[in-house]
Amino acid sequence: MNALVQQDWQSFLDEVTASESKHYLWLRSLSYLEYIGYRKMVKALGYDNVNKGVYHHLTDEIQHSYMLRELAEKNFGRQKAESFSQEYQDIAEDYFQKIDGEIDAWVQRTSGAENPLYCYLLTSFIVEKRAMSVYPHYYSRLSEAPSKVIIQKIIKDESEHLSYLEGKMPLVPGFNEGQADALLAFESACFSEYLRRMQACFHRACAA
Ligand SMILES: [Fe+2]
Ligand SMILES: [Fe+2]
Repeated sequence: MNALVQQDWQSFLDEVTASESKHYLWLRSLSYLEYIGYRKMVKALGYDNVNKGVYHHLTDEIQHSYMLRELAEKNFGRQKAESFSQEYQDIAEDYFQKIDGEIDAWVQRTSGAENPLYCYLLTSFIVEKRAMSVYPHYYSRLSEAPSKVIIQKIIKDESEHLSYLEGKMPLVPGFNEGQADALLAFESACFSEYLRRMQACFHRACAA
């Protein structure tokens, strides 16, 4: 993570962990991001692609989505459900969509045709790298046992996904370290934009 994104991210964590309503929205956003990841995988992967690694990856992501939503509701109450408005969903969708679009274009340039399997591998690899930074930092801010246990379980799963995907990267034609850096830098910019829009949304809600 570059220094500026790191700074934005730490101040974002300061803000969400200091407020119950923002913390609730952050957990719902994470839950929604996990759901989008799951949905994109289901769309991208054909029946023939479903092997043991894919099966574990799919079931883990939908479980993460459910567990994070449960955590939000148990810790901060179901009455806040309506505060997770369409705008928050749009921010999460846009984050994923931009990365997906960039990777889809890269795969088409490199392979000469669309390839949903390569897109799945590459997008997941890039997003898992982010997950393995986001969840451990968030975990370090938590003090209570139920939340820590859940986030720790997610970290264990994400680290397994990342290892699985790292092993698959040689299957993607044209992918090398330089390409990885360029795509990670692109994702970093998308993540900054995600944080900025989330904060703008929090502040608008508070001002209302
Ligand atoms: Fe996940
Ligand atoms: Fe994952």
